[in-house]
Amino acid sequence: AAAGPAAAALLGFTGIAASTEDTVRVPAGYRWQVIARWGDPIGALDAAPGTPAFRTDAGNSAEEQALQVGMHNDGMHYFTLPWDNADAAGASRRGLLVINHEYVDQGLLYPDGMQGWSADKVRKSQHAHGVSVLEIVEQGGEWRIVPQSGYARRITANTPMRIGGPAAGHPLLCTAADPEGRQVLGTFNNCANGYTPWGTYLTCEENFNGYFVAASVDADLKRYGVKDRSDYRWHEHDARFDAGQHPHEPNRFGWVVEIDPYAPDAVPVKRTALGRIKHEGATVTTAADGRVVVYMGDDQAGEYIYKFVSRDAWDATDRLRNRHLLDHGTLYVARFEADGGGRWLPLVHGADGLVADKGFADQGEVLVRTRQAADVLGATRMDRPEWIACHPQSGEVYCSLTNNTGRADARPNDPNPRDKNVHGHIIRWRERGDAAAEAFAWDVFVLAGDPASEVANNQGNVTRVNPANTDVFSAPDGLWVDPRGVLWIETDVSTSRLYHPELNPKSTELRNIGNNQLLAADPASKAIRRFLTGPVGCEITGITMTPDLRTLFVNVQHPGEPLGDSEFNDPAKPMKYSTWPDGPAGGRPRSATVVITRTDGGVIGS
Ligand code: FEO
Ligand code: CA
Ligand code: CA
Ligand code: CA
Repeated sequence: AAAGPAAAALLGFTGIAASTEDTVRVPAGYRWQVIARWGDPIGALDAAPGTPAFRTDAGNSAEEQALQVGMHNDGMHYFTLPWDNADAAGASRRGLLVINHEYVDQGLLYPDGMQGWSADKVRKSQHAHGVSVLEIVEQGGEWRIVPQSGYARRITANTPMRIGGPAAGHPLLCTAADPEGRQVLGTFNNCANGYTPWGTYLTCEENFNGYFVAASVDADLKRYGVKDRSDYRWHEHDARFDAGQHPHEPNRFGWVVEIDPYAPDAVPVKRTALGRIKHEGATVTTAADGRVVVYMGDDQAGEYIYKFVSRDAWDATDRLRNRHLLDHGTLYVARFEADGGGRWLPLVHGADGLVADKGFADQGEVLVRTRQAADVLGATRMDRPEWIACHPQSGEVYCSLTNNTGRADARPNDPNPRDKNVHGHIIRWRERGDAAAEAFAWDVFVLAGDPASEVANNQGNVTRVNPANTDVFSAPDGLWVDPRGVLWIETDVSTSRLYHPELNPKSTELRNIGNNQLLAADPASKAIRRFLTGPVGCEITGITMTPDLRTLFVNVQHPGEPLGDSEFNDPAKPMKYSTWPDGPAGGRPRSATVVITRTDGGVIGS
């Protein structure tokens, strides 16, 4: 059936058509603007307003990049000022926007791409990674970055951070530069994110393996995907990325990092209790007794879904008393059963084969080698777990499984029910008890796809809720349930598969799906409606709203992305595909945050 009355109330906007245009499109009655483009000044306290200005030839230095918004915006969160501001109207006009910068396109980052590769170029690349903390304000309907803000901050691949939790000080984390195993430089490949009830930001290290090289790849490096080459080529000028010389340096990445956006001098902390995987996001909820629960996906084909349950309850009376909360607790990995049930299996040293003679000396080693420990427990291999979202009223949890075309072992009632899963799906579970429960029940919320596909396996089941067949999509990635209970779905079809006559003339599989997009779903009726389409060659990622729900922020990542490695080094290539957001005079496409409001100032989506 089509969407019923409940969906009509929840999704009160007119869905838009698919698009292959090089722009952002939103429903009638909505408007959009961009802020926080790659290279925009962050508004650093001691920098003159508007400086260092972005150079359209990408000629800014590494030092300038460290005072500018990084590249490839990804997960983000809007924090109120102050952190516990309960005045929704005031808190929604000025706040902190914290943004991940997942990775960079080194063909775009410099005037001449990767020619003349140098230590300076490596440093600029490192400074374009990490996280931006921006103070932003709305005036006259326009949002802008506040200049000379005491909060403005860049965290990069070189920012000193502390290691916390059970693996801190572990021999596997010790290096020549840090013989104590407690201090590390930087964070990178910060994909999705999380945020805690005490007002801190969680940034998640995903494909960290791609920055290291090892002449000889042992089983542990191989399990995490470290190879004998790296497209980023940092190791040529920064020896810590040569895992042959510094074999423990890769162990210091793949963690969740907690950042206090309200304290610009606070040292970020890698929370090892949350495990070491290719962390997509870290979605926080609370159990009935106030313990904190963090859901996390490991984004690689055949990897697992995890959750962490803190030992202690969080303290609402003094936010700083929560500063060690994520260092103590139990990490679990999910096993999905064919009968629709499931169990959370604890990754605890000494139990269930996680013992010294199986290669796990202690809890620190269980955490450094989280994937191998989960293998021992018999966790369920999934089709690339990306974002996880918790429904604030029902407690249901949603996880996007973006796709997996390399598997052919699907079984009936499998949580990954399609072999050659081209379009991906969203799985949902309900804990048997509160969020800290050790058992759950699951179902598949939606199989993405196009009912018009010639291949039955690729048709999906989106039509069951929309006979008009316009709101088809592929590759769900970003997920968030807003306070009204709308499930927002962001897509990341890779550019090599994207249908666009100029970009990829051979691919017609996504002809009805078009550019990557943002959709809204009603969890009860499963009605899905397209809300936004992005420019050519981008993915849509990152999502947050102001507390009054009248301003929505999403990220456009890698507009104009080239098709493959052969173009990695060609700075001219992306301009052929996209000039978003600045047009041809802008010099090059730039990742940016899109701010969406209603022209009548109303609540988004209602
Ligand atoms: Fe960085 Fe799994 O997306
Ligand atoms: Ca993602
Ligand atoms: Ca993705
Ligand atoms: Ca991405």
